[in-house]
Amino acid sequence: MNPALTKFGTQMSKLTGVRAIMKDIIETLQAGQGQEFINLSAGNPVILPEVEQLWRDCTAQLLASSEYSEVVCRYGSSQGYQPLLEAIANEFNQRYGLRLNERNILITPGSQSLYFYAANIFGGYTNSGQLKQVVLPLSPDYTGYGGVSLTPEALFAYKPALEIDEAAHRFKYRPDFSQLSITPEVGCVIFSRPCNPTGNVLTDQEVSKITAMAAPLDVPVLIDSAYSPPFPSLNFTEMTPVFGGNILHCLSLSKAGLPGERIGVAIGDPELVGVLQSFQTNMCLHSSRYGQAIAAKAIASGALSQISANIIRPHYRQKFGIAEHTLDQSMPKDLPWFLHRGEGAIFAWLWLKDLPITDWEFYQELKKVGVIVVPGNSFFPGLQEEWIHTHQCFRISLTASAQEIATAMQRLALVTQQVYQRSAVVV
Ligand SMILES: Cc1ncc(COP(=O)(O)O)c(C=O)c1O
Repeated sequence: MNPALTKFGTQMSKLTGVRAIMKDIIETLQAGQGQEFINLSAGNPVILPEVEQLWRDCTAQLLASSEYSEVVCRYGSSQGYQPLLEAIANEFNQRYGLRLNERNILITPGSQSLYFYAANIFGGYTNSGQLKQVVLPLSPDYTGYGGVSLTPEALFAYKPALEIDEAAHRFKYRPDFSQLSITPEVGCVIFSRPCNPTGNVLTDQEVSKITAMAAPLDVPVLIDSAYSPPFPSLNFTEMTPVFGGNILHCLSLSKAGLPGERIGVAIGDPELVGVLQSFQTNMCLHSSRYGQAIAAKAIASGALSQISANIIRPHYRQKFGIAEHTLDQSMPKDLPWFLHRGEGAIFAWLWLKDLPITDWEFYQELKKVGVIVVPGNSFFPGLQEEWIHTHQCFRISLTASAQEIATAMQRLALVTQQVYQRSAVVV
């Protein structure tokens, strides 16, 4: 069969960003031929025993209750399962002094779908033919944004400013406010905070500057809080989640141990929530109610936010510490390597300035010593201009064991030394 595809069909049947690289990684792992790999490419969270137990307990409660058949054997509301809407409203109202009610909340099948709805509701061509942009104010950002728009030309990312600490071999991306502009051509703004892939956390001031720029034009700002408090609380630096006005605060339960159940949440103005809900009704009716029911129990009991702060966050913070420490110990001091400040999420992000080969070639070199990381180039969706930096970075997943991370960073340091030395000889 070779069916004719529409424009949207062609667009949506392409693998974008990191998914395209995953194919090479899976083939490498399968072809292994006896070689053992340390795989630091995974985005799948670690199954932590306490987290797994929480979901088992919630499932047991659900199975034992009369609620079970209502949850599993019936369709429900597109907006979400009532007890989950209530649990989220209570949690956020108490914690952040908000006055949310159910009309402010939408449950989606994973948060990826939420970005898909928003990117196509607010971005793309209007009835009058005007192109509305989906703006990513700070590139690099989540690779999944690369595939969310049915109108790829709508995606527009801004190059960041770089804050570099040469002596410490650290750096941090900042939004470049001298470039960033929110014009009437902008349909919506999206960024992740904490950020996948870099672990960056935009400051409260940076966030309010962006939202204030978008507010006068009624441009929605989606703050992708997949790693934010109160769950999964994968911030290692202080940050305040932000709500209200033109902000759609977007959560995911995936990094809180429930990626298989596909639970995303949008919190915001009822008008914004309403259009997203209609899109969802047309597309898939609603999210899985089993996942929603166990999530309601874990949130309402307070267990999810507690486990997030006491188990999930320390786990990844410690792993980041191991990566950081090993790089500091083993990377050549005289080479221009820079680790992004580890402020959150489940990844480390390494920049090898003036790298003599591309990120893809370096990834191949690392494979030869049994280490897999993700070449950075796929984390710059929507960036229009050529920028050499996009071929000098790597995402290192913190989901491997402490020992594996340490060994992999030592091997990476050796490969770095060799690659720069080789080019010095050639010159
Ligand atoms: C920043 C960010 N946003 C969104 C997602 C999508 O998450 P999900 O659809 O599982 O909620 C991910 C997944 O890794 C992510 O890292």
